[in-house]
Amino acid sequence: MTEPRKHTITVLESPDWVDYQLLDSGNGKKLEIFGPHRVIRPEAEAVWQPSLNAKEWGAAAAEFVPSPEENGGHWQSKTLKPGHEWTVGYKKLRFSLSLSNSKHLGIFPEQACQWDWVQDQIKKSGKPMRILNLFGYTGAITMAAAQAGATVTHLDASKKAIQWAKKNQKLSNLNPERFRWIVDDGLKFVEREARRNSCYQGIILDPPKFGRGPKGEVWEFYRGLPALLAACKRILADDAVFILLTAYAVKASSITIGQALEEIIPAGAGELECGEVCLREQVGKRLLPMAVFGRWSKFGGGIE
Ligand SMILES: C[S@@+](CC[C@H](N)C(=O)[O-])C[C@H]1O[C@@H](n2cnc3c(N)ncnc32)[C@H](O)[C@@H]1O
Repeated sequence: MTEPRKHTITVLESPDWVDYQLLDSGNGKKLEIFGPHRVIRPEAEAVWQPSLNAKEWGAAAAEFVPSPEENGGHWQSKTLKPGHEWTVGYKKLRFSLSLSNSKHLGIFPEQACQWDWVQDQIKKSGKPMRILNLFGYTGAITMAAAQAGATVTHLDASKKAIQWAKKNQKLSNLNPERFRWIVDDGLKFVEREARRNSCYQGIILDPPKFGRGPKGEVWEFYRGLPALLAACKRILADDAVFILLTAYAVKASSITIGQALEEIIPAGAGELECGEVCLREQVGKRLLPMAVFGRWSKFGGGIE
């Protein structure tokens, strides 16, 4: 029998941002700076008191005001109008931002540490890599992977998200030949790829708690994850390099995420890490937990 892996919980931050800052948090909200704009968004984890005074918070250009239904709400804008687009940079990548119909602006800044990690895996591999990014949204991590030299299949159920990702590809000045854009249901696509024996050296999954495929296919995190991971196992190439799974807004512990990944990675090989991605406040220096993750790399710790 293979020895069980030792699980350590890693706390990841993204200290290399210049164009983004979590200024403060508290009272169920976060005060952030995206490029030239200060915005306020709801944040359930911010159960403490803010460090900054009401005048500082009042200087925000827009605030997302939640409504009682899950993920509902609207932007209340002072100077920043819905529809206005601007660009922020992370290292050499460029992303288009705007106030969308949800509380999101087009990137998840706490994920920058994962963009760096994916680039590291690709560089360490030193070989051409085929990567699949499921539930890819506006494609920040897709851009990072392509910039490091991989060819990326980017999938999302939303045409609008794919259009947005294509805009980011142009803004980041990346070769369009590195991308394959797919509007489809995540699980259906992976099952189809498995039937076609189409394999990938790297898989990235950021499934939402609840979502719908383009034909109304229902995605529910807890019900769907086992089947999705089983299908991913079938498309993981023999020379696979990494898998990254992130979960937001679900009760799942990062141990659950890590152990779910264990089912599909080569036994005993490489390194499996699980933990939380966090934002660090600029003012109070507190950590704001944003998501849990599990990631496997063929490099590091175990047998390669
Ligand atoms: C925003 S990202 C993930 C972020 C994070 N996990 C969260 O829930 O906030 C979720 C993406 O999954 C896409 N999505 C939802 N259901 C899907 C499905 N069944 N198949 C493929 N993509 C889906 C959405 O369009 C969205 O772009």
